[in-house]
Amino acid sequence: MDEQTASKGGFYWRYLFLFLGFVGFISLGLVGFIFLPIEAAPKKYQFDIQVKNVSRLCHAKPIVTVNGMFPGPTVYVREGDRVLIRVTNHAQYNISIHWHGLKQFRNGWVDGPAYITQCPIKTGNSYTYDLKVTGQRGTLWWHAHILWLRATVYGAIVIMPKEGTPFPFPRPNSEVNLLLVAIILRCGVGEWWNNDVEKIEKQGSKLGVPPNMSDAHTINGKPGPLFPCSEKRKKYCQNSIKINFPSHRFAGKSLRSDTFVMEVEQGKTYLLRIINAALNDELFFAIAGHNMTVVEIDAVYTKPFTTQALIITPGQTTNVLVRADQVPRRYFMAARPFIDVPLAIDNKTATAILQYKGVPNTVRPILPKLPAPNDTAFVMSYNKRLRSLNSPQFPANVPLKVDRRLFYTIGLGKNPCPTCQNGTQIIASLNNITFVMPQTGLLQAHYFKLKGVFSTDFPDRPTITFNYTGAPLTANLGTSLGTRLSKIAFNSTVELVLQDTNLLTVESHPFHLHGYNFFVVGTGIGNFNSSKDPAKFNLVDPPERNTIGVPTGGWTAIRFRADNPGVWFMHCHLELHTSWGLKMAFVVENGKGADQSVLPPPKDLPPC
Ligand SMILES: *[C@@H]1O[C@H](CO)[C@@H](O)[C@H](O)[C@H]1NC(C)=O
Ligand SMILES: *[C@@H]1O[C@H](CO)[C@@H](O)[C@H](O)[C@H]1NC(C)=O
Ligand SMILES: *[C@@H]1O[C@H](CO)[C@@H](O)[C@H](O)[C@H]1NC(C)=O
Ligand SMILES: *[C@@H]1O[C@H](CO)[C@@H](O)[C@H](O)[C@H]1NC(C)=O
Ligand SMILES: *[C@@H]1O[C@H](CO)[C@@H](O)[C@H](O)[C@H]1NC(C)=O
Ligand SMILES: *[C@@H]1O[C@H](CO)[C@@H](O)[C@H](O)[C@H]1NC(C)=O
Ligand SMILES: *[C@@H]1O[C@H](CO)[C@@H](O)[C@H](O)[C@H]1NC(C)=O
Ligand SMILES: *[C@@H]1O[C@H](CO)[C@@H](O)[C@H](O)[C@H]1NC(C)=O
Ligand SMILES: *[C@@H]1O[C@H](CO)[C@@H](O)[C@H](O)[C@H]1NC(C)=O
Ligand SMILES: *[C@@H]1O[C@H](CO)[C@@H](O)[C@H](O)[C@H]1NC(C)=O
Ligand SMILES: *[C@@H]1O[C@H](CO)[C@@H](O)[C@H](O)[C@H]1NC(C)=O
Repeated sequence: MDEQTASKGGFYWRYLFLFLGFVGFISLGLVGFIFLPIEAAPKKYQFDIQVKNVSRLCHAKPIVTVNGMFPGPTVYVREGDRVLIRVTNHAQYNISIHWHGLKQFRNGWVDGPAYITQCPIKTGNSYTYDLKVTGQRGTLWWHAHILWLRATVYGAIVIMPKEGTPFPFPRPNSEVNLLLVAIILRCGVGEWWNNDVEKIEKQGSKLGVPPNMSDAHTINGKPGPLFPCSEKRKKYCQNSIKINFPSHRFAGKSLRSDTFVMEVEQGKTYLLRIINAALNDELFFAIAGHNMTVVEIDAVYTKPFTTQALIITPGQTTNVLVRADQVPRRYFMAARPFIDVPLAIDNKTATAILQYKGVPNTVRPILPKLPAPNDTAFVMSYNKRLRSLNSPQFPANVPLKVDRRLFYTIGLGKNPCPTCQNGTQIIASLNNITFVMPQTGLLQAHYFKLKGVFSTDFPDRPTITFNYTGAPLTANLGTSLGTRLSKIAFNSTVELVLQDTNLLTVESHPFHLHGYNFFVVGTGIGNFNSSKDPAKFNLVDPPERNTIGVPTGGWTAIRFRADNPGVWFMHCHLELHTSWGLKMAFVVENGKGADQSVLPPPKDLPPC
């Protein structure tokens, strides 16, 4: 279906592209024309935002989808492609789509976060995201970037390497065409609520408390057989190891509709593209009886390493190779949250089945051993093993000299709210500033120099210093409110230390930066010490990514070169914390060169 949409209309666009090339010829002169590369026609997708009734855990409810699919369609592209994705909104909600991690140079207009780089697409309207795939290969994903709609509006982006460029690891399966082999499975791990997610979020923010937690986690939209839907029991099987499975739960159509099954052939190697699409939970993932070899994270190749389990935060992606070299039977793949503070979260286990070809459905699957829910040591050591490939072909260009040093504290807090339960609402802040969403797109305000939308005085460090990760701070939890951005000079190198604090409670926070990849040069528990800790930074082959988990009561240092002008959002990728104001944006100034400024907005950019 995807491929069909992609080729339909290709003819028209090819001509439009040649026309654009011709304009280039006039302005660049003959030399420019001669060296114009022969470009392939852009790939095209149509995304219809529609409400569809879907049933999970015996609860049917209307959900917002793309093209009626849950999870949504996979976008298949190749490095160097141009892809046009036309989004038409048939739902009652405003919508916008973010292409998570897909770097768009000078073109924040297609990045997607509502009121940051665009106004939302209103009901009955369309907007075409004109995307370029440059210097990236692997797995990324797309999701709604407004309200909590990404609970059901998400899908995978698969970027194949340029034609003729092999993977820097053994081919997943030498017998099958590369394109097909690579796209064996996208394992989007998500969350499911039995009730309307938007109503749940509204109720939480009205009361000023965390909204109801999800009812299940899912793998490719399905919770798996540990949720005994068929028995209509409310009691979910939380401690999965001790469960005594009734075998009928693993047979029959009705049960399988809640379970994702991946069939494998003995002796073959599979590439799994794992995406954490959950709203609020960092997750462990493992496959019973099988090790995984990590080869890529956030569409950047890594030095391969083998592990029995992995940790993945909301927003992150991980590609692993799995060899089907075990006794042919059925094995569970499982995902369960990591939580190392005493907070109530949905801690239920989602499962899917890895099934060897020819094994009957009546065979009971084996469960994998996941790290304990509070296994901080596993998370720290797993993250330490992540290294950029840093080969001559795929170098890690870590900024060695730093032009701008930033230090941001992450805090939770409480602000007065007369209409809320107890008269306060829980909020969150960076450097004690709770971000206030504007009514118009920040990029438009920046580009058209509109006054009064935002200020550029976001502080480089907190005004008050304290023992950030000392005893819990429960008094004076107020913050200041504002739409304050940080201005960054074009092409300067930035080091940002994200420091968790014990304001209300310590907690781990997966931070996502739009418009850039960054290098994770260091991390630690406790307070960052600027005279001691930088000596331990990895400036050779640190992991390069777009989302990083800042450890509970700890810190993470990242570096990037600000060579992409525009307004770029940075936020905690726990949707709960984003709603509470744990976000800010950078204004990266234009450079002096002709191709170093923000492009003009597209004609169909949605107005406010
Ligand atoms: C969903 O189901 C409800 C109740 O059966 C029905 O009223 C509604 O029209 C359905 N909506 C869609 C989009 O199919
Ligand atoms: C949240 O959970 C409470 C307690 O179970 C329930 O009463 C309430 O209706 C739920 N809210 C929504 C919006 O589903
Ligand atoms: C997985 O890796 C562990 C640790 O390296 C090793 O002990 C185990 O035998 C491996 N299991 C499989 C199925 O290869
Ligand atoms: C899951 O959380 C509930 C409370 O929310 C707790 O009672 C239960 O022990 C937890 N289960 C696991 C496996 O951690
Ligand atoms: C993790 O949780 C278990 C069970 O609740 C507890 O016994 C153990 O002490 C905890 N470990 C750490 C490191 O907090
Ligand atoms: C509100 O007060 C009640 C009772 O004192 C307490 O249990 C609850 O945690 C408070 N809620 C918030 C959001 O502070
Ligand atoms: C910060 O608090 C921690 C925990 O209470 C304590 O161990 C540490 O000594 C304190 N640091 C400073 C600089 O006061
Ligand atoms: C945060 O700002 C509020 C309001 O200005 C102030 O009362 C509070 O002391 C500040 N807290 C910190 C930790 O800076
Ligand atoms: C940015 O600065 C680096 C180092 O000075 C330089 O090599 C590079 O050409 C600059 N890039 C741009 C786009 O100006
Ligand atoms: C930072 O580390 C230095 C060198 O080890 C030490 O002298 C200093 O006390 C530390 N600072 C803090 C605030 O802990
Ligand atoms: C949709 O977005 C427009 C433009 O920002 C806004 O005026 C309108 O109130 C929004 N509608 C809803 C239902 O939120």
